[in-house]
Amino acid sequence: MVTTTWTRRHILSLMDFTSEEYATVLQTASSFQKVLLGRTKKVPALQGRVVANMFFEASTRTRSSFELAAKRLSADVLNFSPGSSSLSKGETILDTAKTYLAMGADLMVIRHQEAGVPQIIAQEMDRLNSGVTILNAGDGLHQHPSQALLDLFTLTTVLDPINPRLELLEGKKIAIVGDILHSRVARSNIYSLTSAGAEVHLAAPATLLPKAFLAMVNHNAPGKLAIHWELAPALENADFVMTLRLQKERMTTNFIPSLREYQQQFGVTRDRLKLCHPQVKILHPGPTNRGVEITSDLMDDPHLSLVSKQVTNGVATRMALLYLIGNRDAN
Ligand code: NCD
Repeated sequence: MVTTTWTRRHILSLMDFTSEEYATVLQTASSFQKVLLGRTKKVPALQGRVVANMFFEASTRTRSSFELAAKRLSADVLNFSPGSSSLSKGETILDTAKTYLAMGADLMVIRHQEAGVPQIIAQEMDRLNSGVTILNAGDGLHQHPSQALLDLFTLTTVLDPINPRLELLEGKKIAIVGDILHSRVARSNIYSLTSAGAEVHLAAPATLLPKAFLAMVNHNAPGKLAIHWELAPALENADFVMTLRLQKERMTTNFIPSLREYQQQFGVTRDRLKLCHPQVKILHPGPTNRGVEITSDLMDDPHLSLVSKQVTNGVATRMALLYLIGNRDAN
């Protein structure tokens, strides 16, 4: 296992992630990938620890992925999902967290429809000196660190399956296409990919891609960020295309004339991919609106699509995150 020191207590955002931290996550995920490919598929790294999976918002893959990751690390897992109640949110959420704390939870994986909730719980856990560590599994439109890290692991393992590392993405052109405005996945990926030195090209209708996104790149990030209100310039010679779902549930007003119109201008199709680098690969965090942001045949094309790899890699990446923050003191 990797011996690098890990000091971060909570993983809430990638905004201030360092290159060393990215490197450690990639190396650790790579070791766990080997464990998952072996016969036992399990390690005792978190034996006796309790991981509380607190998903206040719907989720299929992220939730199952964290659950399996925690189980592969031999932790005991508590799963929480609220009904549709929206009563006195702040208080209820903190009380829920304190209930899990009282049961002995060591790590809390939190998803919430409102930005900042994982951070509020982290502050409360710190204030109580509880030693509990928090992992943000997606908060509102803010951040989704584990998704961007599994994307980073997927991209780098495509380039070097044995030794995935940040530098492999230097100068690579990565197009992110779709509902960027409502996407926490895009926001986290902008940080990780520009930190890796990639050239990130965002493409969406102007209503779904405000100029303010350009300010998201950290000053010291070696990569570049460009925005386009049409698809072609983003796809031209791209090494990777990350498509994003149109998040209809997060749209309060009409951002696009119609799904058909969107599909015609921004839908990723086999024909449009001809603009990209000949070895181009496609990503999508899921869930997908098949036939809207991407055609069904592309999603399922094993030569082009990394979508199932992303899901598979999610488990190793989340094992790495739980392991690193869970063993922080022992490192
Ligand atoms: C994303 C999310 O929830 O932010 N999905 C995911 O975690 N796999 C993207 C989405 O909902 O479209």
